[in-house]
Amino acid sequence: MNWDFLKTLKFSDLPLDEEDKTVLAQLAERLQDNYPYNAQEYAGQMIKPPHSLAQAAHWMTSLVNPNNHALDGGLATSALEIEVIDQLGAMVGFESCLGHLTSGGTMANLEALWVGRQSSPQATVIASSASHYTHSRMSEVLGMPFKEVPTDPQGRMEIMALEKLLLTDNVPPVVVVTLGTTGLAKVDPLADVVALREKYTFRIHVDAAYGGYFKLTQLPEATRRHFEAMAQADSVVIDPHKHGLQPYGCGSILLKNPAEGRFYKHDSPYTYFTSGDLHLGEITLECSRPGASAAALWATMKKFPLVPGGRFAHRLQDSLLAAKGLHQCALERGFWSLDPELDICIFSSKGTSSATVSDQNRDFFERKAQKGIHLALLKIKKEQWPWDLRWDSQELIVVRSVLMKPEHNDPVFWTRLLE
Ligand SMILES: Cc1ncc(COP(=O)(O)O)c(C=O)c1O
Repeated sequence: MNWDFLKTLKFSDLPLDEEDKTVLAQLAERLQDNYPYNAQEYAGQMIKPPHSLAQAAHWMTSLVNPNNHALDGGLATSALEIEVIDQLGAMVGFESCLGHLTSGGTMANLEALWVGRQSSPQATVIASSASHYTHSRMSEVLGMPFKEVPTDPQGRMEIMALEKLLLTDNVPPVVVVTLGTTGLAKVDPLADVVALREKYTFRIHVDAAYGGYFKLTQLPEATRRHFEAMAQADSVVIDPHKHGLQPYGCGSILLKNPAEGRFYKHDSPYTYFTSGDLHLGEITLECSRPGASAAALWATMKKFPLVPGGRFAHRLQDSLLAAKGLHQCALERGFWSLDPELDICIFSSKGTSSATVSDQNRDFFERKAQKGIHLALLKIKKEQWPWDLRWDSQELIVVRSVLMKPEHNDPVFWTRLLE
């Protein structure tokens, strides 16, 4: 697959002059320098093509160019944003939640930690060593101390180690629990973290930026119970621009307790005049935000409602099956492969030392790219690797494949990927 179609794309309804068309032709040329993200052959990073309906709705709305900061600038699209947030909140299990869209997971997580700090000013942030780097960095931005909990050998937050930290904290901390870690797509034991609240007082923030939508799928009980426990969290982040079929620039934050909207109170002498109703800028850290993102997500959720067993859930189920299928196929072909919990498959060629196996995996990754199949790599530490190896390098480089597209659930593709 290539990007040639961009060169003949018709923008016939737009009043483009000849100069504009020349610039667009140049842009189409420049955009050729990309990996084939939309193709089945791309199973590398966490990149999923947005649905055409989302693209069309985004573009249509950009002709209005609403700003969801205030009802003054985004009347219709603020209403759409409130509707999609209600539906995301219902999926999580929040009875009535307060939330909004963000530019992505990083901003949404920053905001969740900031709300945590507003409710407990001396709070420490606690997250696992497999959590996204955004948490330690954003703790720094917020001036909040950060503590790391080790993971178990599978890559999930070690619950006993968390309890040890909770014992020593005098001020109720914010515990970040990840449902779908970025490297291995592992699910932290949220249900067990929730149970610790019987003994300790702390806030729970769930980073489900990547994994949140898997709540709608059929998962083994051992994993499903942690998704069910999302309803007990104080805040949840889910990124529609990851698994929600949206173009980039679409994250979301959901707060279980709508009263936490009070932390956002600020004066804006320039806006909020058109209506006494809630303006989304009164409950966001970012000021201007694209109404087009809300419109695109709203349109997509009309076609793909967030219902278990629905067609959106089926697409995600295909990704889960793709990861299991590729894993099985890798084992049969003599690779080492970690049992995937969600839709990321990690495998490696076999060998005796970490340095040589890393080189083999790097070669495999490059050879596949030359053949048009795009994968990713991941650095793994000794504690995370279950097989015998002589460790003559600090880390082991393994192959990581993110199987986000329904088309990845295809045995012919798994064979092509592994041969
Ligand atoms: C679990 C998790 N949290 C947060 C982020 C950051 O999200 P974004 O890239 O949208 O800022 C990512 C990105 O991959 C992620 O996987």
